[in-house]
Amino acid sequence: MTPLLEVSHVQISYRPRRGLVSRLIRAVRSDTTEPVPAVRDASFTINPGETVALVGESGSGKTTLARSIAGLIAPQRGSLRFDGNDITRPVHRRSADLLRHIQYVFQNPASSLNPRRKVRYNLGRTLDVFFKLSGAERRDRMAELLDSVHLDPGYIDRYPPQLSGGEAQRVAIAQALAAEPKLILCDEVLSALDVSVQDNILELLRELQASTDVAYLFIAHDLAVVRWLADRVVVLYHGRIVEQGTVEEIFTPPHHPYTALLLDSIPGKGKHQTSALTEDASTVGTAPDVGCAFEPRCRHAISGVCEVDEPPRLHDSETHEVLCHLSADDRTQAQVHATAATPDVPSQET
Ligand SMILES: Nc1ncnc2c1ncn2[C@@H]1O[C@H](COP(=O)(O)OP(=O)(O)OP(=O)(O)O)[C@@H](O)[C@H]1O
Ligand code: SF4
Ligand SMILES: [Mg+2]
Repeated sequence: MTPLLEVSHVQISYRPRRGLVSRLIRAVRSDTTEPVPAVRDASFTINPGETVALVGESGSGKTTLARSIAGLIAPQRGSLRFDGNDITRPVHRRSADLLRHIQYVFQNPASSLNPRRKVRYNLGRTLDVFFKLSGAERRDRMAELLDSVHLDPGYIDRYPPQLSGGEAQRVAIAQALAAEPKLILCDEVLSALDVSVQDNILELLRELQASTDVAYLFIAHDLAVVRWLADRVVVLYHGRIVEQGTVEEIFTPPHHPYTALLLDSIPGKGKHQTSALTEDASTVGTAPDVGCAFEPRCRHAISGVCEVDEPPRLHDSETHEVLCHLSADDRTQAQVHATAATPDVPSQET
């Protein structure tokens, strides 16, 4: 099967963020500071109608990767293919058809909706850009879109600030659906919502996928949600894909040591109270340029190897890939021992 999206060896770098004064000094001194890679050598695919989750702690490059797929940032290296065609070009050089087929839903629905215009305008704008509908046909389509996200037709005359967070996210999803896309990039679409509303939006995403066969790149911090929604998972660490596989492969040992840390730190699972995914990569140290990026935090690091040599991309199966010096057997051994040595509930001194 030709993948719907094929991301191949993508590298994206940013110039270091600095204040205006520093930037002026750099300009005067002709300082040519090297751009810092936010995504390195990333390769993965998404099949039609599939949900691929992208996970990794804050700053690991998830949004950067999604933005490159949407054409909002240009990769310096690598390529993007959609429906078999090269799409490694910015948004202004993409065809209307391509723009229609890749839609972006943001964490904060306010980013996609014009607060000064009614829902009618916000939905209608997408229909006008991509389809030439008018009169009753246009009205009916808007009602149908609202119905598909379980909103009453009366919402058409509301302004975005008159919507709850969940309702606004529903309108943002309806707006993306209005384009009849093949792929929706869902960037932390649940993070700004109450927990009670998150479940409804998740159900909705699943229901819409069943009825439209749309594919999702689902960026999330909550691994429990990922397990429920995704078909496959891609794990990013400091811009590198360190593991990818089916949900079963990712949630069943042996894991990449970083994935093991993430799974270990799911809230309520015992050892930690906060998920490692909510940590900011910048607060947990920078990744070394030589050897394995995870080596400073890895409790299974092989001395003399991991801090020196770039880890190989191992294939545990056709679908399961791990960036590590440890073989699947070695990882199993290491993780079994680590689990045995680490009590879930710390013993209490009496
Ligand atoms: N416009 C920019 N200029 C410079 N650096 C940037 C820019 N945007 C992102 N970065 C840096 O690139 C890295 C990846 O950022 P990105 O937003 O892709 O991470 P993320 O995984 O989406 O994080 P989060 O979970 O917090 O949304 C970070 O170190 C970030 O500081
Ligand atoms: S390559 Fe070494 S340091 Fe990196 S994750 Fe594997 S064991 Fe740990
Ligand atoms: Mg992000």
